[in-house]
Amino acid sequence: MNQEKFGVTKTGEAVFLYTFENENGLKMTVSNIGAVLTNLWVPDKEGTVRDVVLGFDTVEGYEANDDLYLGSTIGRNANRIANACFELDGVVYQLAKNDGENNLHSGKAGYQLRVWDVKTVDEINNKITFSLISPDGDQGYPGELTLDVSYQLTENSIVITYQGSSSKDTILNPTNHSYFNLNGHNSGTIINHRLQLQASHFTPMKDSQAIPTGEILSVEQTPMDFRVEKTIGEEIDQAYSQLVYAKGYDHNFVLDNLTKDFARLTGDQSGIVMEATTNLPGVQFYTGNFMSHTLGKEAAVYRFREGLCLETQYFPNAVNESQFKTPLLKKEEVVNYQTRYTFKIDK
Ligand code: BGC
Repeated sequence: MNQEKFGVTKTGEAVFLYTFENENGLKMTVSNIGAVLTNLWVPDKEGTVRDVVLGFDTVEGYEANDDLYLGSTIGRNANRIANACFELDGVVYQLAKNDGENNLHSGKAGYQLRVWDVKTVDEINNKITFSLISPDGDQGYPGELTLDVSYQLTENSIVITYQGSSSKDTILNPTNHSYFNLNGHNSGTIINHRLQLQASHFTPMKDSQAIPTGEILSVEQTPMDFRVEKTIGEEIDQAYSQLVYAKGYDHNFVLDNLTKDFARLTGDQSGIVMEATTNLPGVQFYTGNFMSHTLGKEAAVYRFREGLCLETQYFPNAVNESQFKTPLLKKEEVVNYQTRYTFKIDK
């Protein structure tokens, strides 16, 4: 593991980069600001390494663009909560309204801006664990939450693990918000990537505010059907209301089978394939529809649909939808969530 200074936060806290690599040419860098994945180098079909995640070269970049969540850990709750409020054990909790009337990714000053402790570094297993104590009442949520997030670089994958426990009943729905571009972070559009998603259903949104209707709809005969691999761009601009609301894909897909890969994504130029597995019930497939002009790493400019996210999660607004699996974390229970992204070459 190589540790180097990245910079300091606005409040003067020291920020570091931690880099791990293996014999197969995979290399990942993470940082204690936001427990963020800053770089992920993967060999392409010619053996040249490409950095396949979007990010920033400076701490200021992460601070100034915190609403993009490039590579960040999101907590306590990923995605949206309608009217920024929920009820738990008979008490109504009010959160910040940072997305119209709703709460998105838990609001400003979220976990993406916190400086996390480094709890352990395991050089033999290429693994680092960050830890955060989120006080009772933080962001409006009940209970003091202890959250550990680990990144491990294995032979051909990165494994992100979350372990959480709380002093009171609360909700916990963490995710990693990496924007992937398997052609390289500075390679332009992702619409020619090919994608297969093992998801027969998705949760439609009511309107452009993106709160789910509460239904679980079949993808059959809609542009949401990725069960057979197709390019992301094939139907993205159809006049299908769900795509119009979100300006592309920005939807939660219901995963069919948690024991198998739920996604297979291929970079059209690089031949890099990424497969993903998780034990969380859904994935937010987001095609970077709200990116317009962001100055990123190596002076790259990230524009509309130049990165895509596969954010594993409980369904959006699950805390307010009784038919969705609950993100409730009971007092003193310990939960473990895991998402693995595996890299291969397209043959
Ligand atoms: C959301 C998008 C949002 C993006 C960045 C995604 O998880 O679904 O609507 O624009 O995060 O905040």
